[in-house]
Amino acid sequence: MDQATLKLVHQASALLSISGFLLRGGLMLNGSALLRQRWMRSWPHAIDTALLVSGIWMALNLGFNPGNSPWLTAKLAALLLYIMLGFIALRLGRTRRIRIIALVSAIACFAYIVKVAVTRSALPF
Ligand code: HEM
Repeated sequence: MDQATLKLVHQASALLSISGFLLRGGLMLNGSALLRQRWMRSWPHAIDTALLVSGIWMALNLGFNPGNSPWLTAKLAALLLYIMLGFIALRLGRTRRIRIIALVSAIACFAYIVKVAVTRSALPF
């Protein structure tokens, strides 16, 4: 797959990933039972797999690795944090307050990842 197509797949899956997360966040806030349906839990995995695979593929194509690109290391660390915060917001958080804090932090984390991707700098501002 050429670089332009990979980037398009990557950007589209990033958009779908955050849209799906916001949707599930809204369902969580409304206490919707939809959130616990099996199909609701499986499609985000497909999107996140496309995001990860296209990202790794582009990094390999362009010769970026955590050793020569600190921004990529920052991006991967922030991605792990985003996944953990997402879990807390949608599943593990014991109280509504904890879930809301995790939800807002995950959204901030995602914004940081996009900022790092566009500027190729790990600095938050
Ligand atoms: C939530 C996770 C992620 C989001 C939101 C995200 C978002 C983005 C966006 C928006 C771009 C395009 C930046 C531009 O306009 O130039 C981009 C580029 C890129 N991403 Fe990701 N990304 C994520 C995860 C990853 C992962 C896991 C990897 C690799 C392991 C990765 C590797 C790359 C690379 C190498 C580019 C640069 C492509 C280029 O400049 O041609 N991304 N990412």
